[in-house]
Amino acid sequence: VTAQNEISFRKAEAPPVISRHIYGHFAEHLGRCIYDGFYVGDTSRIANTGGVRNDVIAALRRLKIPNLRWPGGCFADTYHWKDGIGPRQERPSIVNTWWGNVTENNSFGTHEFLNMCEVLGAMPYLAGNIGSGAVQELSDWVQYVNFDGVSPMSDLRRVNGRPAPWKVHFWGVGNEAWGCGGHMRPEYYADEYRKYATFMNTPDIFRIASGANSADYNWTAVLMKNIPLHLLQGIALHHYAVINWDRKGDAVEYTDQQYFQTMQSALRMDTLIQKHSAIMDQYDPAKKVALVVDEWGGWYNVEAGTNPGFLYQQNTMRDAMIAGATLNIFNNHADRVRMANLAQTVNVLQAVILTQGSRMLLTPTYHVMEMYAEHQDATLIPLDVHSNAYTQNGQQLPAISASASVNKRGMTHISLVNIDPVASQEVVMHTGSRSYTSLSGRILTAARLRDYNSFGQPEKIKPAVFKQATLHQQTIRLQLPPFSVVMLELQ
Ligand code: AHR
Repeated sequence: VTAQNEISFRKAEAPPVISRHIYGHFAEHLGRCIYDGFYVGDTSRIANTGGVRNDVIAALRRLKIPNLRWPGGCFADTYHWKDGIGPRQERPSIVNTWWGNVTENNSFGTHEFLNMCEVLGAMPYLAGNIGSGAVQELSDWVQYVNFDGVSPMSDLRRVNGRPAPWKVHFWGVGNEAWGCGGHMRPEYYADEYRKYATFMNTPDIFRIASGANSADYNWTAVLMKNIPLHLLQGIALHHYAVINWDRKGDAVEYTDQQYFQTMQSALRMDTLIQKHSAIMDQYDPAKKVALVVDEWGGWYNVEAGTNPGFLYQQNTMRDAMIAGATLNIFNNHADRVRMANLAQTVNVLQAVILTQGSRMLLTPTYHVMEMYAEHQDATLIPLDVHSNAYTQNGQQLPAISASASVNKRGMTHISLVNIDPVASQEVVMHTGSRSYTSLSGRILTAARLRDYNSFGQPEKIKPAVFKQATLHQQTIRLQLPPFSVVMLELQ
């Protein structure tokens, strides 16, 4: 146990609402995410609804999944949506050149995805192809899914069995335009964006520009300067918790130093958001444009024996630390960060669900997202956090992070993370003008940092009741074990 950490509720005039869309997910045609992960087809022996696994649907509904981004990622800028509509046996195949050069038969297309979102209760977020597609093609997609009048595209939708439009609100205008989306310069992309966005014009459309790679602040500045605000509702940011792109390390057998480096990369999200937001503030002081962190999470080497193009990795308590700390950062920046998407939902990168044949397991990351769902659409309570240091090889990171919110029923939730792999942390919290009469809590931790849920032991890691907290007037005292995530509920 180290000396005391302190957290105080800060008074705020008009604190922001934590958009539920911060808790969004991402599903790409990559490895076993869509095929095998979500979609097994309606002739599968695995229980399904319209070809989508019922176990996955139930698990994501329990997460209150607010939105789902699809079909990529890099795949989005190779995807031609018209290949994925109409009778399945007549759909053409393409080669998924970014992810393993596998043949994509387009059996999971627009109808399958949007109907699945309805079953999930999630808002769809479609990523349009601007890298290899045409303006007309994307404009047609918008018409096909959103227009309820008579038009060639809405008539085609009806012929394909869907009378009413899905009214898709969230649209990405390309993906990683600086890289796999076309290796564009920001000036060029800004012009392309203006053109594509102009023809994505059904009512109530939320267009998201392909944003910066981590600390590429010039990208954000050029886009904000050159895109008229009436065409822009969101600007993306991608940042992965990665040690080194050439030596990412193992997902399970990582060293103490690699653990520290991963957390260092994950916590960098705070600085990235602050700096990108400051640039956005110069052009948009009213914060009308959202910062959309539509790819985030830990990225390691693939599991031995799996296709390197499929990005399949295990998920240990390190991933729970990334999730807990990152979601605290997003909550605390809810004024500008109004949407985010963990990469990726099933069987790819920092997945919340892994599948093997008919079996499914929930990862530690899933449990963090489930615990944090309490923050969705609640009002932020800003915090001042004074944390002890977690030290590794002479370098330091703050050991604890936290965020708090009050929901419409007047309940306060505080999520706390101790990333220190060895020391438990004593925390004293001052709730200021808010006082409570009852406190309860849940905790996610494990015997070892490198523990994970496997198909042999799918419930090795799961939330438990947390009893190491006491409430006395405006003071809460608690003991956070090493590598733990805690959610407190106060009334
Ligand atoms: O999530 C995997 C890939 O990472 C995405 O396809 C791409 O956008 C990013 O580089």
